[in-house]
Amino acid sequence: MNQIRINTAGGKSLLILGGTMEHIHGLLPEKGLFIITDTNVSRIYGDAFPPGEVMVIEAGEKSKTLDVAGDLCRKMLEAGADRSSFVLGFGGGVVCDIAGLTASLFMRGVRHAFVSTSLLSQVDASIGGKTGVNLGEYKNIIGTFRQPEFVLCDHSMLATLPYEEFRSGLGEMYKHAVIRDRNLFFDLSASAGQLTGRDLQILGDLILRAVKIKASVVKSDPLENGIRRILNFGHTFGHVLETHYSIPHGVAISQGMIIAAELSVWKGEMPHNEFRLLEIALEKAGLLMDCSLPSNVVSRISRDKKGEADSVRFVLLRSVGKAIVRRLHLTEIQSFVNYYNEKKLESQSQ
Ligand SMILES: NC(=O)c1ccc[n+]([C@@H]2O[C@H](COP(=O)([O-])OP(=O)(O)OC[C@H]3O[C@@H](n4cnc5c(N)ncnc54)[C@H](O)[C@@H]3O)[C@@H](O)[C@H]2O)c1
Repeated sequence: MNQIRINTAGGKSLLILGGTMEHIHGLLPEKGLFIITDTNVSRIYGDAFPPGEVMVIEAGEKSKTLDVAGDLCRKMLEAGADRSSFVLGFGGGVVCDIAGLTASLFMRGVRHAFVSTSLLSQVDASIGGKTGVNLGEYKNIIGTFRQPEFVLCDHSMLATLPYEEFRSGLGEMYKHAVIRDRNLFFDLSASAGQLTGRDLQILGDLILRAVKIKASVVKSDPLENGIRRILNFGHTFGHVLETHYSIPHGVAISQGMIIAAELSVWKGEMPHNEFRLLEIALEKAGLLMDCSLPSNVVSRISRDKKGEADSVRFVLLRSVGKAIVRRLHLTEIQSFVNYYNEKKLESQSQ
């Protein structure tokens, strides 16, 4: 078991990696516990829930709405919750995002923590204090920053995760490596076989290294005014692909990463051989799909929260392991999208 602390001016968070439910008993209140979970997780892990009021949302991205958060707040009120109540999100990234938001909205904020059950949430979504819901096709446009008091990542829970969701989590692990740690990238690629077989020893070690990257970035920029932006690598195109093609988050981000890497080459920021390195690894991990960008992608990007007037801050690569942030004009992005889609069309017709 490993522990990492994220201490920021806005709050403190204890990450417990490779722990079990026993490690959090002393961290929970004796009464006033509200557990937010989803239909799948409650079916599999309901027996492991600590004593408290259980609120179950439908599994899946469709539950990430303000209506669902409002409904959870109403249920808490009806069940007698007050400002001393404690929210425990028990599930994957969707549960963590909505439980974190509910906790930060209810009576202007109550204590909260997570038991993180999917690979994607263990390496990314449960860590760092971002909460959020979607507004129609716009991802995570409503949200807050609020650090969970603790995050328990019991890796043995990953054994029940469907393969498609496991692969999605691998995408975010690759993202952490690609933006900051070339060695982790090579180790992830070399361990692809054992990872797919869910070798918990190897997985635990790689999760720890990926989480350390996220934790160190969050510590130095908790409110995403600077360096934390690199964690959004792959997200600008990825979010559009996720809603357009209804694909798992990590798969969309992987596709978004490879397109952003191609943009980095197109802009002259990164040599082509580095792009190929990434492409081969993501292909081998089964994380790439053959898709073009939707025709309205640039207008979607311009309304994304990272947009400002007629340009957006874009995370590009210098090499595998080194991300940079550049401001790109929307017309320039449109030119790249035209280039990318024409190339796709040509390769599909061959
Ligand atoms: N707040 C952040 O910083 C942040 C970062 C990255 C991603 N996210 C968000 O996270 C979400 C994606 O997270 P996700 O991939 O975990 O999705 P998810 O929460 O929908 O979980 C994926 C599926 O796996 C099931 N599941 C979860 N744990 C399980 C387990 N142990 N065994 C069996 N089934 C299990 C869920 O019920 C669901 O059907 C997206 O909405 C994304 O925007 C947030």
